[in-house]
Amino acid sequence: MKIKETISFDDVLIVPQFSQIDSRKSIDISVNLGLENFEIPIVSSPMDTVTELEMICALDALGGLGIVHRYNTIANQSKIIHSAHNRGAKNIGAAVGVSGDYLDRAKACVMAGSNILCVDIAHGHHSMMKNALKCLKSTFDASIKIIAGNVATLEAFNDLSDWGADAVRVGIGGGSICSTRIQTGHGVPTLQSVIECSASDRDAILIADGGIKTSGDVVKAIAAGADFVMLGSMLSGTDETPGEILTTPEVVDGKQVFVNYKTYRGMASVEAQIDWRGHTASVEGVSSVVKCKGPVKNVVNSVTRGLRSGMSYSGATNITELQSKAKFIKQSTSSQIESSTHINLL
Ligand code: IMP
Repeated sequence: MKIKETISFDDVLIVPQFSQIDSRKSIDISVNLGLENFEIPIVSSPMDTVTELEMICALDALGGLGIVHRYNTIANQSKIIHSAHNRGAKNIGAAVGVSGDYLDRAKACVMAGSNILCVDIAHGHHSMMKNALKCLKSTFDASIKIIAGNVATLEAFNDLSDWGADAVRVGIGGGSICSTRIQTGHGVPTLQSVIECSASDRDAILIADGGIKTSGDVVKAIAAGADFVMLGSMLSGTDETPGEILTTPEVVDGKQVFVNYKTYRGMASVEAQIDWRGHTASVEGVSSVVKCKGPVKNVVNSVTRGLRSGMSYSGATNITELQSKAKFIKQSTSSQIESSTHINLL
């Protein structure tokens, strides 16, 4: 058996190139999804510790997209969407599944003001996805854009696109809270999937999802062909995420301080499954806590600064130019050590 070699974010770097960009503000990082233009290529994960009302409104104001999770009642999800619509959010994403009440949920979300539906399942290359996309496409007109996923291969990307998806979430098993690869032995490194799916001749937008941990990873995902990045852990712990703040005393530099944390958990973790369906089926995620990070605006601004700076290193003034110019190189293990800060190793 011939086994294919694959790469992940930390295996590659992008080579700096001649640049004539004198101000990073002149770099355009906007992207389109259908007729909608987004000022920044950032989407929040539809997870119950990431996206509800406050995240939708904050990301919309920053020019990105929030997708409210589906792990609540239809009435609660609709209420969140309705409130965001009132508060004037232009783009509101809503996650739905592919079975049970998903069509009623989708109708209620659109009625409440959502203009983007996200068909959100772990293994998107599935006949149930095909049926759901067919049904949603015939229920709503073209003004309702449909994101579908997740997938890991070009064949799956093309199928979801052919079944009606306007955008496809690419990445299986790479999420920071994901245990799919441990539990099932399946998955593909997210950057590898992005590279392969970006070769598609279909029109669907590519959303890189899972395992993006720094603005450098955002640059790599977009340079490799993603139109948007979906962020879970990077946005977790911000003021706009749902959930309680947990305060614990800790000793820092010999002094006792109080540190604030918030929960960040996989939707297939034991804890999340117990909360949303009262029992567990296949467990493919974990629950953790992350330090509170303050307003999401600060995190997003730091990501977009890194993205603009990265584009300047490649001499690119917009995302299309970055994708055509970027020169990837593979790095060795010693280069990986050199690439992260290593003062403490000296
Ligand atoms: P992160 O940005 O690396 O934290 O990854 C977030 C992504 O992980 C989400 O957008 C989902 O695609 C995925 N995800 C969310 N919950 C789970 C889970 O319980 N198991 C596996 N993947 C998950």
